[in-house]
Amino acid sequence: MSKISEVSNWKYSKFLKNEKNNFNKNSILKILPKLFIDEAYNVISGWNNYFPTPLISLKKLSKKLNLNQIFYKDESKRFNLKSFKALGGAYAVEKITDGNKEIIISTATAGNHGRSVAWGSKNLGLNCKIFISKYVSENRAEVMRSFGADVIRVDGNYEDSLNECIRQSKKNNWQIVQDVAWKDYILVPKLTMAGYSVMMKEISEQIKIQKISHIILQAGVGGMAAAMVAGIARYLDHVPQIIVVEPESAACVLASIKNEKIEKILIEKESIMGGMSCGEVSLIPWEILKNSISYCVTVSDEYVSKTVKLLARGEFSSEKIVGGECSTPGIIALIGLSNDKQIKDQINLNVDSNVLLIGCEGDADENLYQELLKKND
Ligand SMILES: Cc1ncc(COP(=O)(O)O)c(C=O)c1O
Repeated sequence: MSKISEVSNWKYSKFLKNEKNNFNKNSILKILPKLFIDEAYNVISGWNNYFPTPLISLKKLSKKLNLNQIFYKDESKRFNLKSFKALGGAYAVEKITDGNKEIIISTATAGNHGRSVAWGSKNLGLNCKIFISKYVSENRAEVMRSFGADVIRVDGNYEDSLNECIRQSKKNNWQIVQDVAWKDYILVPKLTMAGYSVMMKEISEQIKIQKISHIILQAGVGGMAAAMVAGIARYLDHVPQIIVVEPESAACVLASIKNEKIEKILIEKESIMGGMSCGEVSLIPWEILKNSISYCVTVSDEYVSKTVKLLARGEFSSEKIVGGECSTPGIIALIGLSNDKQIKDQINLNVDSNVLLIGCEGDADENLYQELLKKND
């Protein structure tokens, strides 16, 4: 039986201070402008069934770690799509097609982004082609098909699915709606990030007068983390310490911060946190993250199922929380950092700290979620 007492010996894997940390609101908002951020909120808050997702206080965990507050943004409730990705892809589809019903949309995905693009396309009556790698579960593919998308499985990893998506889209004149930027492909990823920043707008209203001292942001290619940093620049008066967390097997942001330039890393083993198993930080996010991150931390897959169970059993909070695999690393990192007295002091985690964590997804992959719940560890 999982109990909160078991977290006392949890550890993070790697920790790195960003020597180039120099948060600059104006330069961040030059990259993702206020106009983009505000328009995304205006459009998305007008969608059917829009409501801010809950900000839950993990009271039992803050007591255990001796911190003032831990806030958990629960994206399992986002538009019935069960992840924050609902805000990005679907919004980019709407903006980029601008009422043209003839456009065919395409994308490559680890799962949640494609679900958002398929859902957005369906809402607008557009055809949609989704490319997935061999690592994406049939369960996730089925959800995208249920939104009317053609799902094309590519033999290889995420990068192979993206390359195939680009190849076929060029040939057939499909409009790619990708969350990753590359040279000459900048606008759509910016729109996607603007969509994600809605989370920070909601949080800024939900926390009211309390100041967030630390925010822990998960990164795959860094889009979500950079969008939240832009949201901090846009909506908060106070800049928290910004900590990026990644799976230890896919720490491309940490490697890039360390070497002060984008570093591509080789993923030898795919993390169970599938949405975060990425080998290279995206161009636009990097421009935002490189000077605004305070610290990078990595965590092991070992704690993922344990955290899923503790969330589900209400061991961290008075309510039970459905948090999928990508919802766990912020919690794991916070526990690991708090268990290291020296680091805890260094980063000023103490009784006055108000920490914000992002619960990125619920049981977006229902089968995997059930497996994690049942895992005997
Ligand atoms: C479900 C899911 N997918 C993907 C990501 C990564 O987002 P990005 O690739 O924008 O960094 C996250 C969060 O880190 C996530 O929770």
